Amino acid sequence: MSQRIENVLQEDRRFPPSEEFRAAARVGSEEEYRRLHQRSVEDPEGFWAEVARELPWIQPFETVLDWSEAPRARWFPDGKLNASAVCLDQHADGERAGKIAIHWEGEPGDTRSFTYRELRDEVARFANVLKARGIGKGDRVAIYMPMIPELAMAVLACARIGAIHSVVFGGFSAQALRDRIEDGDCCAVICADGGWRRGKVLPLKPEVDAACEGIASVHTVLTVRRTENEVGWTEGRDVWLHEALEGVTADCPPEPMGAEDTLFLLYTSGSTGKPKGIMHTTGGYMVGAYLSTRMVFDLREDDVYWCTADVGWITGHSYIVYGPLANGATQVMYEGAPNAPAEDRFWDLCERYGVTVFYTAPTAIRAFMKWGDEHVEKHDLSKLRLLGTVGEPINPEAWTWYRRVVGGDRCPIVDTWWQTETGGIMITPLPGCTDTKPGSATRPFFGVDAAILDEEGNELGANEGGFLAIRKPWPSMLRGIWGDEQRFKDTYWSKWTDGWTYFPGDGARRDEDGFYWILGRVDDVINVSGHRLSTMEIESSLVAHDAVVEAAVVGRPDDLTGEAIVAFVTTGGGVEPGDALRQGLLEHVATEIGKLARPAEIRFTDVLPKTRSGKIMRRLLRDIAAGRESSQDMSTIEDAGVLERLRKGE
Ligand code: PRX
Repeated sequence: MSQRIENVLQEDRRFPPSEEFRAAARVGSEEEYRRLHQRSVEDPEGFWAEVARELPWIQPFETVLDWSEAPRARWFPDGKLNASAVCLDQHADGERAGKIAIHWEGEPGDTRSFTYRELRDEVARFANVLKARGIGKGDRVAIYMPMIPELAMAVLACARIGAIHSVVFGGFSAQALRDRIEDGDCCAVICADGGWRRGKVLPLKPEVDAACEGIASVHTVLTVRRTENEVGWTEGRDVWLHEALEGVTADCPPEPMGAEDTLFLLYTSGSTGKPKGIMHTTGGYMVGAYLSTRMVFDLREDDVYWCTADVGWITGHSYIVYGPLANGATQVMYEGAPNAPAEDRFWDLCERYGVTVFYTAPTAIRAFMKWGDEHVEKHDLSKLRLLGTVGEPINPEAWTWYRRVVGGDRCPIVDTWWQTETGGIMITPLPGCTDTKPGSATRPFFGVDAAILDEEGNELGANEGGFLAIRKPWPSMLRGIWGDEQRFKDTYWSKWTDGWTYFPGDGARRDEDGFYWILGRVDDVINVSGHRLSTMEIESSLVAHDAVVEAAVVGRPDDLTGEAIVAFVTTGGGVEPGDALRQGLLEHVATEIGKLARPAEIRFTDVLPKTRSGKIMRRLLRDIAAGRESSQDMSTIEDAGVLERLRKGE
């Protein structure tokens, strides 16, 4: 009981920004937040047009929003711009030409820095290499790379010539990469010979070779030399970037892109097996990334900003590449693991580069907490002024640790809720005006009309748990799922009957102060270390294994990773369940999807619990996996003995 009261008390704690922070902040008072937020939802077109005009347009827009074909929004449809020009040229040709855009550090300790002018020139040359290979506007290019500067350059080079980039996280398997290359009908892949991870070279080229085998559409594989690793080579198709760059000039004018032209695809897991190619367009996405970076991180000219995400995820797209660069920020980019060579690597980087704004994920924060305060305390982090978190709900214990140990009790924390689909941050504190509560993403960002609804679409009252919903279009919203219009409508716009209320797939409640508390996914998506995985995708991979007849995958709470994957598996074909099979299944999932999707636990069972109509009782399995009593109605269960056997099997 005392434990419960303590938890409740903890969650009721409020952390107002210091007077000093408030005084210097972009939004420094509650009144100002309310006024701006109200304006942004009452007159979204007026609000967003003003923001958008802060960006350099090649052709100014006249129309702000066309929502006549909801849920397909068109923002600034008659305007033209180029995302790489927004990120680079406006600074490279102006006062920030000599300002550092990226301080990069490799895991082995090698470093490279680029001013805005240098970065623009590198990107322009890179873009010319792509052009010389016949790649142009509208072509899809897959990017599969470690966290090296060329990753950001590759993304921006595509944007410069109007090619659509599709970044695939380097931790995905060859098969997962292949699926994405095929789905996007990509004509080229940009990769590296490898990257450094925990003192070892992680080879990437063999995965690319396997992924591209027999795919006729891929005419070019452009490889960056990073590790001097031996690589296989396909003549005619394979090109080294450093060789292709020889004699190439930095003269590559940015392609004028319609605001609604697709900027990129990014695949994400949904509740069915097949990953979805989420589509983002140029104008609205850039406007959203620009404003949210500026406001949520309260960016100032002299900040040194560091987002620890990988560019392979949406966080890296919006808050490493597009948002910070559109704002002309100086940022840190790091290749490797947080504990290489030691557990203080991040804090060592923060100290040496004088990081002022630091953005990471709850799973990392929990790992730092476990590793011990001493790794943080060894370093001078006095330059830090603001902390952020993203990717999954953060438990109040990790939040308060982050604030106290990393933030020295002085830095506000922005807990930012958003998704691949939303393109940018949606629910978040504004650090200069929000009294934060540990574990709450607090309030909607500008332009976001959020609500908590029930199944029928009725708005729920304070502290009633329901479905999170967004009731108005916003510029950086997804425009579709690549090649699957129907799935776009079904997944996001059909929860409620109006057809234009966005359903993110998360449960949430709003407290009496209007603060949002995200309760996690309500569909078959699980969140492991902030990575979104589809239970169905893992199930279908398991079932594809010869020894498996049926599989059910669920998440259970985990102290470090947030959720952990538990697979219930029935076997057949005379294969004995046991450690050898377990190992074989783990490897199988790693090959099919990637190591990140390997179950933490595989439980063999002779039968799965099903309803009389044959549906697997997932809620029951979730309870069993978590070791709790089940609240599910058992009267519909087909074979009552199953439960007993599953429990015994624990
Ligand atoms: O469930 C929410 C959780 O992550 C999901 C989105 O995952 P993804 O598209 O991979 O993007 C992650 C980075 C933006 C959401 O539906 N999530 C993300 N941020 C938070 C969160 N849950 C709680 N609090 C957050 N701050």
